[in-house]
Amino acid sequence: MNILVTGGAGFIGSHVVRRFVKKYPDYKIVNFDKLTYAGNIHNLQDIENESNYHFVKGDICNIEDVRNAFHNFHITHVIHLAAESHVDRSIDGPMQFAMTNVIGTLNLLEVARSEWQDGKDHVFHHVSTDEVYGSLGEDGLFQETTAYDPRSPYSASKASSDHFVNAYFHTYGLPVKMSNCSNNYGSHHFPEKLIPLMILNILNNKELPVYGKGENIRDWLWVEDHASAIDTIFHNGRIGESYNVGGLNEWKNIELVHFLCELMDQKLNRPEGTSKQLIRFVKDRAGHDLRYAIDAQKLEAELNWKPSITFEEGLSKTVDWYLENQEWVKNVTSGEYQEYYEKMYGK
Ligand code: NAD
Ligand code: TYD
Repeated sequence: MNILVTGGAGFIGSHVVRRFVKKYPDYKIVNFDKLTYAGNIHNLQDIENESNYHFVKGDICNIEDVRNAFHNFHITHVIHLAAESHVDRSIDGPMQFAMTNVIGTLNLLEVARSEWQDGKDHVFHHVSTDEVYGSLGEDGLFQETTAYDPRSPYSASKASSDHFVNAYFHTYGLPVKMSNCSNNYGSHHFPEKLIPLMILNILNNKELPVYGKGENIRDWLWVEDHASAIDTIFHNGRIGESYNVGGLNEWKNIELVHFLCELMDQKLNRPEGTSKQLIRFVKDRAGHDLRYAIDAQKLEAELNWKPSITFEEGLSKTVDWYLENQEWVKNVTSGEYQEYYEKMYGK
């Protein structure tokens, strides 16, 4: 297999690339990434010299970039993760989300459709989110059959890309697979998202901005478990099917922030209760979805996938990684990030 992994320099993509490069030495893994603010080639420093790994700096919005990569590496499979991924940025500038997430995905689908006419085995695995299902009330879980009801510009753009992926399956018979995952956490997570932002602010004694009353609920999965789910679905999932990915791990934001504060107090040898004093309730996000929660029964029953670690273990590993990788933090938080941070949260 010659696999084009788009967005491989990002948070989840880098874990997927690392897993595939190490586990499948016979596959050629081509990381295709534009290196936006969220992409960081150093995320893959540990495997960059492996002979089955290749990097291409390219833009999925430029169809010639995509076509060239398909030709140059004889691409037979795609795992598509490249996207604009942050809800707050989508509220501020939805157009870039439509360009990257919708048009970029269409470009990939078009090239795959025209290149894969040889009757051989191909797979186009589209990586999506549970946010396409909208917002849950207090009960219930998102299932693969739940109607799409996206509410943020980010989720609207992902929902649109999902619809195009399904359209290419039904209309052109493109061999697609799709996964819709809950919120991820782990190493190499860009610190605009809740968990890494809170870890770094606690470390630096900065305020912890909790939107609204902190009552919104997210369902958290360790990023390496998401990568293992993608591996499983990519290899064994049925063509034309979607699989929800999640670990039944719902947390109210404020409870999660409290838990992180306690963990950080222990790790930093600070007196109990120190970090909690940094919590500030700030203006809520516009259209803030109340609750996400995934039913991953189909994936578990059909493909025998399960998350490998508990949230407590995963969060402890994650905190350790940020504490041990301050150089990485310095690298990604210099430049544009400061401007973004000050605009969102003040100085
Ligand atoms: P990320 O923002 O960390 O990384 C996105 C990557 O895509 C970056 O490396 C960036 O440089 C690249 N990219 C952006 N625009 C590009 C373009 N035009 N051409 C080529 N590359 C481009 O995102 P992430 O959190 O790793 O998410 C990866 C995928 O998983 C996304 O499709 C996202 O919707 C989906 N997802 C994310 C989560 C989550 O919790 N983070 C959960 C479920 C699904
Ligand atoms: P986020 O990590 O942006 O992921 P998503 O919006 O895709 O779920 O946010 C997770 C939750 O944390 C969400 O309910 C918004 C909230 N949040 C805060 O309260 N404060 C923050 O500074 C951020 C970034 C998020």
